Amino acid sequence: MRKKETVSSLKSAKGDRKLTMITAYDALFSSLFADEVDMILVGDSLNMSFNGESDTLSVTIEQMIYHTRAVCNGAPETFVVCDMPFGSTNTKEEALSNAVEIFRQTKADAIKIEGGVYKAELVRHLCNNAIAVMGHIGLLPQFVRSEGGYKVQGRDEKSFKEVIEDAIAIEEAGAFALVLEGVTEKLGKAVTEAVSIPVIGIGAGSATDGQVLVWSDMLGFFESFKPKFVKRYLDGAMHVRKAVECYVKEVKNGTFPSKDHTYTK
Ligand code: KIV
Repeated sequence: MRKKETVSSLKSAKGDRKLTMITAYDALFSSLFADEVDMILVGDSLNMSFNGESDTLSVTIEQMIYHTRAVCNGAPETFVVCDMPFGSTNTKEEALSNAVEIFRQTKADAIKIEGGVYKAELVRHLCNNAIAVMGHIGLLPQFVRSEGGYKVQGRDEKSFKEVIEDAIAIEEAGAFALVLEGVTEKLGKAVTEAVSIPVIGIGAGSATDGQVLVWSDMLGFFESFKPKFVKRYLDGAMHVRKAVECYVKEVKNGTFPSKDHTYTK
């Protein structure tokens, strides 16, 4: 069994080994991922791939707590990060009270917050109150409605500079790591070099200190759309469809259950 990561082992991984993170939303899958990855993220992406919503915005803190408990139950020896959902970090008081609730009701090791410079004071407040914070900068899925879509960052000089400023501000506020999403390869490298905490990329090129993927994307279960940065390591949806088709056929033609699956006495 792997040794459980800590905030300090993750920080000291920078420049030494690449870090891996995958999302999970339940105990079954977190237990399958636990031995392989350094961290599991209970991402608010669960609102899309688990709940079937069109974006992440409607997931609640109670739902995040429910899924995080399940993930921690399945992977008690893995470092688990719980996403702070949309609207749960509007003020620093609200953010702290929601984060404390997550820590009280689950075994999460850290929380993740979307936002840059403007969230720095809030991140500092949480860190000062014993909450380990992972930042999330670059493309911010919680801005999908206000921005009118998912927009890759760093393609112009202004956004390139702003994302670096965000990274530095969140590091200075005390975050132990950063997720960097949806930026050009050049910006991925620049951010990774600008801070001394690990930068975990998703659609940020190969120069970052590690990578994160949404499990249902990388295992080919989520079919609604596939961003360019997703690599499908399995055609999960196809395997499930084939298996269920086979089960239905065997029930109908009487080959299931056979004697092997029957109590004969
Ligand atoms: O919610 C999520 O799954 C995330 C990843 C995209 C990093 O935040």
